[in-house]
Amino acid sequence: MNNHVTPFLRPQPVRSAPEPEFLARRMQGYYRDRVQNTWDGGHIMRGRCPGDDALHLSSNDYLSLARHPEILRATAECLMNNGNGLLMSGIFLHGSNPLLDLEARLANFMQAPAGVLCQSGFAANTGLVQSIADENTPVYIDMMAHMSLWEGIRSAGARAVPFHHNDIGHLERQILKNGCGVVMVDSVYSTNGSVCPLPDLVATGSRHGCVLVVDESHSLGTHGRQGEGMVAELGLCDKVHFRTASLAKAFAGRAGFIACSESFSEYFKFESNPAIFSSTLLPHEVAGLEATLAVIRREHWRRRELHAKSAHLRRELDALGYNLNGSQSQIIALESGTERQTIVLRDALEARGIFGSVFCAPATPKNRAMIRLSINCTLSPEELERIIDVCADIREDVALSSWASTRRKNAQDAETMPQVAVA
Ligand SMILES: Cc1ncc(COP(=O)(O)O)c(C=O)c1O
Repeated sequence: MNNHVTPFLRPQPVRSAPEPEFLARRMQGYYRDRVQNTWDGGHIMRGRCPGDDALHLSSNDYLSLARHPEILRATAECLMNNGNGLLMSGIFLHGSNPLLDLEARLANFMQAPAGVLCQSGFAANTGLVQSIADENTPVYIDMMAHMSLWEGIRSAGARAVPFHHNDIGHLERQILKNGCGVVMVDSVYSTNGSVCPLPDLVATGSRHGCVLVVDESHSLGTHGRQGEGMVAELGLCDKVHFRTASLAKAFAGRAGFIACSESFSEYFKFESNPAIFSSTLLPHEVAGLEATLAVIRREHWRRRELHAKSAHLRRELDALGYNLNGSQSQIIALESGTERQTIVLRDALEARGIFGSVFCAPATPKNRAMIRLSINCTLSPEELERIIDVCADIREDVALSSWASTRRKNAQDAETMPQVAVA
C-alpha cells in the first residue's frame, strides 16, 4: 500500500493584471444586472447538486450510448495502441487513414457523396458558413436556428436575413425582397424540440435557386430507418446542399460533421479557418465514433423506444397544462418565461430529483427562459411516471397558470376547440 501523503500546500495569494476600465465596466454589467439584480446573488445555472436518486435529463445522449461497452472497448483499445496519435491540423492527412475512412462511411450513411469531420458541431457550422457566404450573400436564417450558424454569418461578414420560426411564407417574402442566397435551418430545434417543415422549406429555397443548409444535430442517429437523419428520411438528400451535425448528441462523442459534395469536401478542408487552424480529431475519438456508427445503424430498438417515450411524455405534459411550444421530438421544454420564474421551476424540479437544463438569454429571447428536458431511450416506465407526477405536483408551487406561455397555450387550445352549436 502506498502511504505517501501529499503535503497540503496553502495556495499563495496570486493577483491577476488589473482590468482596464472598459473591460471592468463590461464585466460589472454581468455581475450587477444578472447575478445580483436578477438572480439575487445566486446563479440561474447552479441549483442543487444532484443526489444518488437524481434523474438526469440534461444530457443529449438520446440513444443512451455514452456507456455502451462496444464503443468504450473500441475507444480504449485504440487509445492504448495509438496514444494521442499525431497532433496536427487535418490538412496534413492523406492516403489511407481511419479518419478519412470514417468520413466516407458517415457520408454513405447519410446518403451523401462525401463528408468532412470537424472538431465540433460549432466548428462545422462556423466553418461552413464562412466558406460559402461573404458580404454580398444574404443568409436567410430561422430566428431559432443554433447560435453557431449565427456566429458563422458574423465571421463570414455576411448579411443575416432572419425569418420567423418555421414560417415559410415569411422566408419566401424575404427571398423575394433580398434575392438569391443561403437558407439555414435546424431540422429539430435545440431549445424547444420543434421540427422544421423541411419539404416546404426545401421546395421554397429550391424554387428561388438558394443554397440549402440543414443542421441535423438533433435528428442524426434518432431519425430515419437507420438513424441517417431527417433529410434522408424525407428523401430530400439531392436537394439539400449541406447537412451539418454535432456528434455530441445521439453519437455521444465529441466531433462535428458536414455532409456535402465530393468537390466541396476538398475545398472546405483548405478554405475554412476551423479546418486549417485547429487540430483534428484524435485516433481514439475516431475509433469510438466508428463503433458508434455501427451500433446506431444496427440497434433500431433505441430509436423506437426514444420516439415512443418522448411522445408519451409530450402527451402527458400537454394534458397537465404545460405549453410545449410545438415540440415534436425528444426535446421537451417547459417555458417558465422570466429568469426568476425559471429559478423557481428549477428549484421545484430539483428538490424532487428532476434535473433538466436551464435555457435563458442568449440561448432564448429575454423572458422566454425554460427548463429543457432531453429524453433518452432507456428511461424506465417508472422514471417517466416520476417525471409526470413531479410536473403535476409542482404546478401550483411554480404558478404554472400565471406563465405567459400557459396563457398562449390556453388561447390556442380555445381556438382549436370544436365549437358546440347552441340551439
Ligand atoms: C443544433 C446545434 N448545432 C450545433 C451545435 C454545436 O455542437 P457542438 O456541441 O458539437 O459544438 C449544437 C450544440 O449545442 C446544436 O444544438
